[in-house]
Amino acid sequence: MPIETGKMVDLVHGLLDRSVFSDQAFYQQELEKIFTRAWLWIGHESLVPNPNDFFSTYMGEDPVILTRDAHGNLHAMLNMCRHRGNRVVRADDGNAKNFMCTYHGWTYSSDGGKLVSVPGLQEAYYGELDVEHLGLIEVAQLDTYAGFIFATWDPEAPSLEDYLGDMRWYTDTWFNRREGGLELVGPMKWVIPTNWKMPADNFAGDNYHVSITHRSASIAQARVRGQPAGAPANTGQVSAFNRRTFGIGVNGHSTSGRMAELGEEAPQFSSDSILRQYRQGIQAEMERRLGPTQVRFTPIVGTIFPNASFLLSSNTVRIWNPRGPYSTEVWSFVAVERAAAEAIKKATRLASLLQFGISGMFEQDDMDNWNACVAAGKSLTARRFPQRIDMGIGHEIKHEIMPGMVEPGSSNEVVQRAFYARWEEFMTTSSWADIPLAPQTAQYEGTATFRS
Ligand code: FES
Ligand SMILES: [Fe+2]
Repeated sequence: MPIETGKMVDLVHGLLDRSVFSDQAFYQQELEKIFTRAWLWIGHESLVPNPNDFFSTYMGEDPVILTRDAHGNLHAMLNMCRHRGNRVVRADDGNAKNFMCTYHGWTYSSDGGKLVSVPGLQEAYYGELDVEHLGLIEVAQLDTYAGFIFATWDPEAPSLEDYLGDMRWYTDTWFNRREGGLELVGPMKWVIPTNWKMPADNFAGDNYHVSITHRSASIAQARVRGQPAGAPANTGQVSAFNRRTFGIGVNGHSTSGRMAELGEEAPQFSSDSILRQYRQGIQAEMERRLGPTQVRFTPIVGTIFPNASFLLSSNTVRIWNPRGPYSTEVWSFVAVERAAAEAIKKATRLASLLQFGISGMFEQDDMDNWNACVAAGKSLTARRFPQRIDMGIGHEIKHEIMPGMVEPGSSNEVVQRAFYARWEEFMTTSSWADIPLAPQTAQYEGTATFRS
């Protein structure tokens, strides 16, 4: 059944027009309507730990310099010289008080990009250049959640706290479970011929693919470990149809995870024995920080709308940088807990790289599928037949504890429906006033706060 004309996302029947992955006009519209308005995850405090540290990042296709100034305050500025538009910072990261443009030497400060020096200011410009107003373009808003730095170009965007809303209840259970939070290593960067939404959709909570897509890698891994073929691998894998795992959508963000029964031990998705022991060892601290209810939730995977994702079992966090309808620059970080012992950090990094990352056994399975799915959108014939996101439609529930739109079962497409519904809301509205935000209802019983 074709999708109604002009309606790309059909939430009644769970259908998606394939041209959302292939149409250049849609792509341009995404850059304008989503990437200049949404709160985007651009970095982490651990990437700029010291005064005058900087980190080169992106907001959509726009290069951005993230800095920590001499007083410890964070800033994010468009990496574009106000003279001819040259990139002011070329390094991935470093430490500098000022940034000098390599073309004609205009120089900007790290504390918000003030224009502090212009060659020939008196001699060539006759002292008439409006230096005051020619600093680097700063983002409209910047804020942090549990050490993660977010920014938006839109002064009208709601607060980051409202934007994340009840999604925090879920992400806290990894990002905020220990004192000191996470520190990020990386990123590894690579480009894949797929649309940015395809990996964001997969990480939203597509557990359905795991036992098929990753079958051969799981078998190979089990053989090396001397386990029976097909034993659960370290991919966040759960039985494909487990009903105590849930898919959740909140404000277009989504996650999938397991809710333990009262008194039941948290599930262990890592098959590395050192990391399993580590997880058991931090249970008391987690209970203190998260409280008795929230601590029962163990996330597997999730996406913060639009293009940031995480996978706890492999300790990876991602930014899917859009680079055209058929191109995505993947930024993959390994996330380790700051308070963990060095041996745990090392084991975490190793386990993560073996599974996910450019040469990770499991990563490659995923990339190949994403590329081919998006390629189908190029075909006019294929586009006449919509993509399906209808699994479990109508079976969403109001859960007595877990906030948001919840659906029981490790395999469902409530997470994709949440993601594409949000996509359409951004694409079809011109102001934040028209984008609905779910009220915050989650209860926080532990000591963890929004910022740390
Ligand atoms: S382009 Fe930067 S100083 Fe001219
Ligand atoms: Fe996968």
